[in-house]
Formats: sequence, structure tokens, C-alpha cells
Amino acid sequence: MQTVKVLAGGAGVGIIGVVAFVLSGIYNIAATAPHWPITLFVLKVARDRSIAAHSSGVQLPDLKNSKLVAHGVEHFHEMCRLCHGAPGYPRQEFAEGLYPSPPNPASVVVQEKSDAELYWIIENGVKMTGMPVFGSTHNRELIAGILALVRQLPKLSPDEYDALMKSGGLHESGGEMHHGSTGSRGNTASPDTNK
Ligand code: HEC
Repeated sequence: MQTVKVLAGGAGVGIIGVVAFVLSGIYNIAATAPHWPITLFVLKVARDRSIAAHSSGVQLPDLKNSKLVAHGVEHFHEMCRLCHGAPGYPRQEFAEGLYPSPPNPASVVVQEKSDAELYWIIENGVKMTGMPVFGSTHNRELIAGILALVRQLPKLSPDEYDALMKSGGLHESGGEMHHGSTGSRGNTASPDTNK
């Protein structure tokens, strides 16, 4: 009985401490103050476990379908490139200030994820990171197209990426949605920026 009382008392003090900490404003929410290594570790494990569990039932179309890639490149260029970069297109300045930082989609840490996991991330976004939800604005085919393109990124040179965009009709459409698609190429420091 004595032990139960001590445990309950300890838990009570702990809860009051957490509430006091939260209400005091001591916690620094600034993106310039990185998480402690232990917090980062817990967040990373929680994120990866959550993505693995939630993506287990995802049904994917055939990602080898070349039409999917042609659709995907246009949407990747408009929706993803500014934060993540693309072959020959470094990510935008504002993306340098995001915390956590948007990873290079051609990198091993992204490519080692399963198709189902990547599809799920693009469809649902990642809370409190800046990674948006695309499932509310893009249908299954388009998300599969974007994913098919993401899978091609490690192999694509800047010229091949541009050629793919042309074959996808991006530069020819001239539509309002695509006005940013040319011009930024000039900022490219080197074709290797995305490696
Ligand atoms: C506003 C910036 C922004 C845009 C736009 C954006 N992302 Fe992200 N994305 C992020 C950030 C930040 C992360 C890191 C999330 C994390 O650390 O868990 C991320 C994470 C990801 C990941 C997970 C990588 C990993 O290994 O955990 C994938 C895949 C991804 N984005 C793909 C895309 C695709 C595809 C698009 C376009 C359809 C896109 N993103 C658009 C910011 C963005």
C-alpha cells in the first residue's frame, strides 16, 4: 500500500512538472534550436514505425508504366522540386530554412523505403515537418506517377530530367500552373547539386 502511495505521489509531481514546463514557455519552439539527440531519435523511430504500420495495406499500380512517369515529372516539378530539389534544380532558398530539412529524394535514405511507404508519405504528408498532404489534391494515378518519377531520380541527369519534362508536355503547355518551370535552371551551381 505504501509503495502504491509513493508511486501515485511521484506520478502526480511528474504531471505537475510537465504542465508547469509547458505553460511556462521555457521550451524553445524556434526552428533554429535543434532537438536533443534523444528527442530526434524517439521522433525518428516513431515516424518510421508509424509509416511502416500505416502503409502496410497500400495497393499500388504498376510503377513501370512509362505513362505514369511522364505524368509524374510534371507534378513533381511543380509540387516537390521547390523543397526537395530535382536533377539540375537545387531546392529553393526557403527550403534551406525548413526544420526538419527536406531530404534529397534521390538519396539512399529515401530510396531504401518501400514503394508502399513512399506512396503513403506522399498521400498523407508528415505532421509537424512541412511535408504536405497530396492525397487531398492529387488522385491515386497522379501520386503513383510522382512515385514512379521519384524512383527514376537517382538515374536521371539534368538533361534527361528536362527531356522527360518536355515529353510530359510541361514546357509546351504554358499554362498558369507551370509558369515557374523555366528560369530557375540558371541558379544551378553544378549538375551534381542533387547527388
Ligand atoms: C514545403 C516543402 C515540401 C514540399 C512542397 C514537399 N515536401 Fe516532401 N518533405 C518535406 C520535409 C520537410 C520532409 C521531411 C519530413 C521528415 O523529416 O519526416 C519531407 C519528406 C518527404 C519524404 C520522406 C523522406 C524520408 O525518407 O523520410 C518523401 C518521400 C517526400 N517528402 C516526397 C515529396 C514529394 C514526392 C513531394 C511532392 C509531391 C513533396 N515531398 C513535397 C518538405 C516538402
